[in-house]
Amino acid sequence: MDQLQSKDAHDCARIGRIVRPDEVHAHLAEHGIAVFQGLQGAQHLIELGQTLGAVLPHPDSDEHGVTVITERNSPRIGALTAGFTRAAVAAHTDRADLPVPPPLLLTLCTVQATMGGESIFVDGAAVHRVLAVQAPDALRALNQPGAVSYGRTHVYTGPVFEPTSHGRRVRLRLWPRDAGRFSPEAESALEPLQQAISAQTFTMRLKAGQGYVIDNHRWLHGRRPFTGDRVMLRIGVHPHPTMQLETGIANFPHQREGRG
Ligand SMILES: [Fe+2]
Repeated sequence: MDQLQSKDAHDCARIGRIVRPDEVHAHLAEHGIAVFQGLQGAQHLIELGQTLGAVLPHPDSDEHGVTVITERNSPRIGALTAGFTRAAVAAHTDRADLPVPPPLLLTLCTVQATMGGESIFVDGAAVHRVLAVQAPDALRALNQPGAVSYGRTHVYTGPVFEPTSHGRRVRLRLWPRDAGRFSPEAESALEPLQQAISAQTFTMRLKAGQGYVIDNHRWLHGRRPFTGDRVMLRIGVHPHPTMQLETGIANFPHQREGRG
């Protein structure tokens, strides 16, 4: 990791501390994110994923569930395919159109960018807290049942911060602005949402062999533009029930105030 940047570098240094693969579960349970090193390729990534749960298929993945994120000669580049370019990718959650988006995302760098390509991380729990205090009207708009629709094949219509069925957690679903269809009220909340996201963003420039696991129901991810032949491998994982790893935003003290 070449750099760690944040407006609160101390906290992010603690959260972004690189751990061994066998420490991933504990770090993930505590922070909803774990950064690791020492993996050599797709097989290692799959093996780590299988210690956490079941590897999920993805439309862009190979038969083992591994998606190779690098520049591709794709004729149609849009907000959802920017990952396959050298351009920036705005902070987002994956598969927000699915009834249950993949709970965990594992990403491994196998080729570092020549320049740029920093991975972007944003703790949705912190964003939720900031909005509840500083922009409660915006949070209320984002919590409405018709706040946003994502997808065409699978369509999700609901809140950006979606309460889970048991009510203990909130699941964050966020695609880039031009990939979602937001209600007028939610549209007007996107500016304060973006401000909160910008304030909570930290970045890491991963080297080959380094990677991360994030709770995709809580953490946003993205990347900065780059030069070179940067390659990242990605798998989605559904955690084993025996792990008792609950995903999403927990302990949200302003839940009542934030709900519409
Ligand atoms: Fe993504």
